[in-house]
Amino acid sequence: MKTYHAIAWLAEGKLRLIDQRRLPQELVYCDYTDYDKVAVAIREMVVRGAPAIGITAGYGMALAALYSSAPDTDALRTELRSADAVLRAARPTAVNLFWALDRIQRRVADPALDSVAAIREAVLSEAHAIYAFEEASNFRIGQNALPLVPDRARIIHHCNTGPLATGEYGTALRVITAAHEAGKDVFAYVDETRPRLQGARLTAWELEQWGVPYSIIVDGAAAHIMRTVGIDLCVVGCDRIAANGDTANKIGTYSLALAAKAHNVPFYVVGPTSTIDMALATGDEITIEQRPAEEITRFETCQIAPAGAPATNPAFDITPAAYITAIITERGVVYPPFTENLARL
Ligand code: MRU
Repeated sequence: MKTYHAIAWLAEGKLRLIDQRRLPQELVYCDYTDYDKVAVAIREMVVRGAPAIGITAGYGMALAALYSSAPDTDALRTELRSADAVLRAARPTAVNLFWALDRIQRRVADPALDSVAAIREAVLSEAHAIYAFEEASNFRIGQNALPLVPDRARIIHHCNTGPLATGEYGTALRVITAAHEAGKDVFAYVDETRPRLQGARLTAWELEQWGVPYSIIVDGAAAHIMRTVGIDLCVVGCDRIAANGDTANKIGTYSLALAAKAHNVPFYVVGPTSTIDMALATGDEITIEQRPAEEITRFETCQIAPAGAPATNPAFDITPAAYITAIITERGVVYPPFTENLARL
């Protein structure tokens, strides 16, 4: 069972994060009182995963309110707009970041908040509400997915979508752990997920805690495993789902979807409704984060490509809706046509 909390608010007014860059070798916690440093933690991937980024940004705003020396509500609201801009710039693709900050801003704008203390309390309670929403959503996602997972299922999972990425149960990984908890005999093939190895480092570590049997594969092995071993379903998370169902997720998701289509393997995108961005018509409008070349050309401190070798490092890709069997959310399982059915959801 899970014994760790990727994100925790401490009663003395601190945000505590697991430094996910150091897992699985070390379980190290970092404490924050400064929203600027929280933005850096998001950018540098101390905390990562779409829902976890949103929850963390919410608590970043709570820190901004708590440690502000603004003398009145107008000054505090101005400072909170600056903090919002800093946190908003941390990473571009996961919509949960913007969704969470929008929620906080709506709360701060309430004219009934007529003292500095009232604004502080409101921001913290909204941050807690965001966390609670993700926790409850994750749990329901696992329940909604149960009928889709046959007994003795062999499942490919990409990146990391467990409690580390979401705060509590996880999304795509929750499909696997919920089936395991329900007594189904499931086996996970864990894509290592180049270049940051969220699969090999984090998903494998989390599956150990849940006691789910697994095997790590290199990303390029997925099609081979489908053809030779046989796979019953693929589950992946999402950073942003456009109104037509096109989905941004960790780089390599699109190739996995193509391989699944070629082998008639159901391909499920799994995420809370906070990851659906109805303002974007298609995936072409989603900003794809480009990360430093060194993430590819170096392995931790070891240079593995020729010194100065150029590298192109998109952190996410778009899987066109046509390759997605269904989207599993806390409100139910959505099938094509996604444009109609997401709007109805
Ligand atoms: O770059 P990361 O590690 O933040 O990317 C994470 C992913 O792509 C996850 O699949 C996604 O955020 C969903 S997490 C439930």
